[in-house]
Amino acid sequence: MIMTADAPLLAVDRLSTAFETETGWLRAVDQVSFTLEAGTILGLVGESGCGKSVTALSLMRLLPQPVGRIESGSIRLNGTELVTLAPPAMQRIRGGRMAMIFQEPMTALNPVYRIGRQLLEVFDLHRPDIPIDERQAAAVALLSHVGIPEAAARMRAYRTRFPAGCASG
Ligand SMILES: Nc1ncnc2c1ncn2[C@@H]1O[C@H](COP(=O)(O)OP(=O)(O)OP(=O)(O)O)[C@@H](O)[C@H]1O
Ligand SMILES: [Mg+2]
Repeated sequence: MIMTADAPLLAVDRLSTAFETETGWLRAVDQVSFTLEAGTILGLVGESGCGKSVTALSLMRLLPQPVGRIESGSIRLNGTELVTLAPPAMQRIRGGRMAMIFQEPMTALNPVYRIGRQLLEVFDLHRPDIPIDERQAAAVALLSHVGIPEAAARMRAYRTRFPAGCASG
């Protein structure tokens, strides 16, 4: 692991990602490079299918397996190379240091588990040091913060009970 004080928060260098298809490996992301400084916002803009989501899935190391593969390039978060990072180390970063809001709101929450259980998973995995009642209070506060009414009750609800628009946050 290389930590460099002056490295950008995120540095993507010539990232290429491919999918295995019936006609062979097809490159969906081709030599994409960008950097992101801490405290800044970067928008990736392009026509449908140009590779925005596949770029994000590559950064999160969430490409569908085994059909999706990072072919080449580098993704450094605070100087740490993510492309070759061992799965347990990547698991600690994913959801803790780096997160993705998925595109399809209706599939983002699992309909068979209560909302609260799904929201608390990220705290349970990354901040088990925080007492459980404080984790729950933090999740309720986050729901309130984004304008969801009766947040404590919503924690006990299922996705299908969420009013349209609230499930996507
Ligand atoms: N699992 C997969 N297998 C094969 N090809 C895939 C797979 N997932 C994505 N692709 C292809 O990768 C390319 C980039 O798709 P991607 O979803 O990143 O586009 P996008 O820029 O996010 O589009 P949109 O604006 O519609 O969200 C597309 O051609 C898509 O068909
Ligand atoms: Mg997309």
